Amino acid sequence: MQGVKTLSEFIIERQEDFPFASGEFSRLMNDIVIASKIINREVNKAGLVEILGATENENVQGETQQKLDVFADEQFISALQNGGEACGIASEENDDFVAFDNERSKQGKYIVVFDPLDGSSNIDVNVSIGTIFSIYRRKTEIGQKAELKDFLQSGREQVAAGYVIYGSSTMLVYTTGNGVNGFTLDPSIGEFCLSHPNMKCPSNGKIYSINEGKRAEFSNAVQSYLDYVKEDDKSTKRPYACRYIGSMVADLHRNLLKGGIFMYPESKSAPNGKLRLLYECNPMGFIMEQAGGKAHSGSINIMDIEPESLHQRVPILIGSTEMVDKVLSYY
Ligand code: AHG
Ligand code: MN
Ligand code: MN
Repeated sequence: MQGVKTLSEFIIERQEDFPFASGEFSRLMNDIVIASKIINREVNKAGLVEILGATENENVQGETQQKLDVFADEQFISALQNGGEACGIASEENDDFVAFDNERSKQGKYIVVFDPLDGSSNIDVNVSIGTIFSIYRRKTEIGQKAELKDFLQSGREQVAAGYVIYGSSTMLVYTTGNGVNGFTLDPSIGEFCLSHPNMKCPSNGKIYSINEGKRAEFSNAVQSYLDYVKEDDKSTKRPYACRYIGSMVADLHRNLLKGGIFMYPESKSAPNGKLRLLYECNPMGFIMEQAGGKAHSGSINIMDIEPESLHQRVPILIGSTEMVDKVLSYY
């Protein structure tokens, strides 16, 4: 029997994959892994403790924060602050970025942005949720406090991105720009083990994922594509299957493995869509491109967008290349 390869072993073995100092990257990843394992533990016992349900608070985007959102956010912040490799973070759950003020963190070369819990409306109903993260080199001088310009970088400048899916098993999937690899958490040893080396998204598929209840609000282009996917044409495997979990991480993870397209387009009431450029679209775009797929807003490749604000939203069409190109042909 072949031995298991843990995430830490893999990172050391593939040092050249990370264009910067690998020791720093492995420590940064280790902090992220620790936070993810703690979140995983709480997600798994969510039905047992008084952590279910909404808090009284709303986050900066006016959505009700779930208790686990807040918990996950705190875990990430404290793991990264204590780790010392990141000089600051920005998260979907915080109004502003957090610049770490201790001397060690100010020496940190990286910033991390994240969606601590994605799909949080699914927590109470035992459906898969996730965490999304993205790592950049800082722009400001080492030794200073992090500033807004450290965070407003385009997706092309990401040095690593990943997600954790808390599903029927827990997986961590990440890229440093040299392909995508997936690791499954073995709860008996508490380690993420390489289970999905060199993940590739099929160039075409037969799954489409969109909140089709909002159809009337979508553009003519998207509505025409939604007609196209339902037409009967065996040669192009239509009609496609509609699969929509409502957790971007879970929907994209499935589509990455099986081939498919995920869309959260612009609509009449939300001209920029719903999903956030920094915390959701850029990291998922980086992973999808590295797996051979594509991520587009309808007018520009997601990762080419120059961000203007931390919580900026952007329409997204992401997944199998041929499917994204097909929907774009209607624009
Ligand atoms: P979050 O829980 O981080 O706010 O993200 C939820 C997002 C995303 O995961 C999902 O694809 C989408 O919201 C679902 O939105 P709708 O309910 O509008 O379809
Ligand atoms: Mn989210
Ligand atoms: Mn979230």
